Amino acid sequence: MNGRKTIQQIQKKKKDGQKITMLTAYDYPLASLVDAAGVDMILVGDSLANVVLGLQSTTEVGMEEMIHHAKAANRAVKQALLIGDMPFGSYQVDSNAAVDNARRFVEEAGCNAVKLEWFDQCLKVAEKIIKDGIPVMGHVGLTPQTAEKLGGFKVQGKDADSARKIIQYAKELEARGFFSVILECIPSQIAKIITEQLSIPTIGIGAGEYCDGQVLVTHDLLGLFDRYKPKFVKQYVNLGMSILEGVKQFRKEVEEGKFPDPLHSYSMNSDELANLKVRK
Ligand code: KIV
Repeated sequence: MNGRKTIQQIQKKKKDGQKITMLTAYDYPLASLVDAAGVDMILVGDSLANVVLGLQSTTEVGMEEMIHHAKAANRAVKQALLIGDMPFGSYQVDSNAAVDNARRFVEEAGCNAVKLEWFDQCLKVAEKIIKDGIPVMGHVGLTPQTAEKLGGFKVQGKDADSARKIIQYAKELEARGFFSVILECIPSQIAKIITEQLSIPTIGIGAGEYCDGQVLVTHDLLGLFDRYKPKFVKQYVNLGMSILEGVKQFRKEVEEGKFPDPLHSYSMNSDELANLKVRK
């Protein structure tokens, strides 16, 4: 925990013109690997709902699942800043409950910050969390928890009026003390304007090249989730195929009596075995 990057170090990267990296992880093995790869921030995202739990919507996970997974990731993370994604319903209903829930991510699960999506009361709610000493990352543009209200999962800010709103939201987040902001699924020109006008780092997902950093859902980039694939996803490896091949090979070898072989089995001293047989 001590060696983890700080908010100040992340923010300095923007000032120094260095790109910031962020990925999701929801369990010990993946969090260990993402951390070992030197990624700056790890998000225990509510995308857990889709890519790990097989649910249709991120709105279907709650605090208990998020804390459970954040704890697992926390056990692995040594150098990255660990962020807990506040699930739907954990911060929209009651601002005192929002502070309690944010605290759970930090005190129970070991996160260094929380993230919440834009909604009409989010500034008021986040102000309380920030006052409580917990760093908060914002999320504007396409906000999956309220995607229905935005007309579904589609690019936001394509006309001047809606783009102006997103720029305004991002500026308000900075003014209220958010330490960084996710820009999801907006035209790269809008992300460029926001990135230039904000002093806090912008982290893009489907927001183009001008953001200060980039985030993806790790299962997407590793080829571990194929139910749908947004345009912004780049798949770097196909672990799904490798896993399928490995599992098929196991099945074949067991069925053909090739596994386990002596190399993967234990044996008993022959005298002891003889002894055992005599006494029988
Ligand atoms: O839950 C998540 O994975 C996210 C990222 C897409 C930013 O919110």
